[in-house]
Amino acid sequence: SSSKLLIKGGTVVNAHQQEIADVYVEDGVIVAVKPTIKVGDDVTLLDATGKYVMPGGIDPHTHLAMEFMGTETIDDFFSGQAAALAGGTTMHIDFVIPVNGSLVAGFEAYERKAKKSCMDYGFHMAITKWDESVSREMEIMVKEKGINSFKFFMAYKGSLMINDELLLQGLKRCKSLGALAMVHAENGDAVFEGQKRMIELGITGPEGHALSRPAVLEGEATARAIRLARFVNTPLYIVHVMSIDAMEEISKARKSGQKVIGEPVVSGLVLDDSGLWDPDFITAAKYVMSPPIRESGHDKALQAALSTGVLQLVGTDHCVFNSTQKALGIDDFRKIPNGVNGIEERMHLVWDTMVESGQISVTDYVRITSTECARIFNLYPRKGAILTGSDADIIIFNPNSSFEISASSHHSRTDTNVFDGRKGKGKVEVTIVGGRVVWQDDELKVVPGSGKYIEMPPFSYLFNGIDKSDAKYLSSLRAPVRRFNSAS
Ligand code: URP
Ligand code: ZN
Ligand code: ZN
Ligand code: ZN
Repeated sequence: SSSKLLIKGGTVVNAHQQEIADVYVEDGVIVAVKPTIKVGDDVTLLDATGKYVMPGGIDPHTHLAMEFMGTETIDDFFSGQAAALAGGTTMHIDFVIPVNGSLVAGFEAYERKAKKSCMDYGFHMAITKWDESVSREMEIMVKEKGINSFKFFMAYKGSLMINDELLLQGLKRCKSLGALAMVHAENGDAVFEGQKRMIELGITGPEGHALSRPAVLEGEATARAIRLARFVNTPLYIVHVMSIDAMEEISKARKSGQKVIGEPVVSGLVLDDSGLWDPDFITAAKYVMSPPIRESGHDKALQAALSTGVLQLVGTDHCVFNSTQKALGIDDFRKIPNGVNGIEERMHLVWDTMVESGQISVTDYVRITSTECARIFNLYPRKGAILTGSDADIIIFNPNSSFEISASSHHSRTDTNVFDGRKGKGKVEVTIVGGRVVWQDDELKVVPGSGKYIEMPPFSYLFNGIDKSDAKYLSSLRAPVRRFNSAS
C-alpha cells in the first residue's frame, strides 16, 4: 500500500546530532529529512513542534514465546511486540533456543512463532551444548539465516550451561564466522553450591535466589569470559550486566583496548533489592531474574557507567511469567521461572533515569536505546537512524508530558509489573513502524504479520583490525614477568 507521512517541525535526533527538520516518509522508508518539506494533500501530517523525533528503540535482548524452566513466557511475538510499540520500541532481537540440540530446528520453530509479528525483529542464537553438529549449524545460521550473534551460558548448571573448554571452542567458531559471541556471565558451578547452601539453611523463598548468586560470581565469570575472548582475540558482548563487579571488569578490558561490549538492562539500572524479598511470595517472586537484582548502589553505578561509555547500550531481557507460573517455585526458589518485564518500559525509564536526571544528552539517549544496537549487530543505518534511506521506524517523544507505569494498564499479557507505580517525565506520544502510525493518543493499531525478519550480516565494525592468524597475536600477549619482592 502507498503510505505517505510528513512529520513537521520536530527536533530530529540522531546519535551524532540534533536539528529542527521535517521528516518525509513513503512506503515505509524515510525519503527526506530537511527544513520545510512541502507535500501534496494526500499525505498524512503529524505535528511534532516542541517534541523530539527519534529513531524507534531497538531492544537487543528479549525472550518472547520461550520455553524455559518448565513453562513458556507469556508474551508471544504479538503481545510482546505490541507492548514494545506502545513504549516506543520498534525492533527487538530475540534469542532462538535450539530444539533437541539442533540450531536449524530451533530457527524454524522461531520462524513459526514470529509469523504474527507486528514489528521488525532479528535473532540471536543461544548455544546450549557443544558438538560437531552445533559447530556446523552455526555456519548455516550465519551464512544462510541472517544470525550474527551467539549466546553462551556460563550459568544454569544442568541445563543450558557450558564449561570453559566448550566456551573456548564457541569463541573460536564465532571468530572464524565473523559472529559476535555473547555470554551470560555467572559462575554456574558456584551458583549451584550457593543454592544448595540456601536450601540446607531452610531458605526456600525468593530471597534465596539473590543470596545464592552474589555479585562476586558475576564478576568472576565476566572476568573469565573477557580473558578467554582476549586469548582467542575475538570481540565479546556481555548480556545483562547487573553488578559493579562485572562492570569494572568490562571497564578494565576496554581501557586496555579489548573489544568488549556491556549491556545493562533496565531492571538492573532502576531497581535495587531493598525490601524486595519481604512481602508475600508472589510479590517477591516477580523480581526473580538472573543475574539477580542487586543491593542498592549497583543500579547507580551502572547508570554512571552508561553515561561515561563504559557500558554501551540498554536492553531489557524481557522474559515474563504470570503469577501462576511464578508460583511453580512456591516451595523452592530454584523452580521460580527466571525473568522480568521491560520491553514496554525501557524507553521511558531510560529517559527519566538518564536524560531527565541530567546524566546524558538527548543524542546519547538515541545512541544507547537504538543506534549503538544497530551498529553492533550490523543494521546501521537501515535501523537506528533518521536518515534518508533508513526504515521509517520513528517515535515522537514529548519531553513535557509524563508517563506512569501500572500492571493494570500495560500491554504485556503478564499480571504483574516490576516497575508498577513508577512515574516520570517524558512520553512516547506516537510510534511509527514501517511508515505506519501504530501508537497515537494512547491507542494501539497493530497488524499481526506486518513485521519482517531482519537478517544481520556477520563482521560488524567490532571485527575491524582483528587478525585471523593467531600466531603473531599470541606473542603480542607476552608480557615481562613482574617481580613483587625484589629490592628496588
Ligand atoms: O532471568 C532471566 N534473565 N531470564 C531469561 C534468560 C536469560 O538468562 O537471559
Ligand atoms: Zn505503496
Ligand atoms: Zn542470560
Ligand atoms: Zn536473557
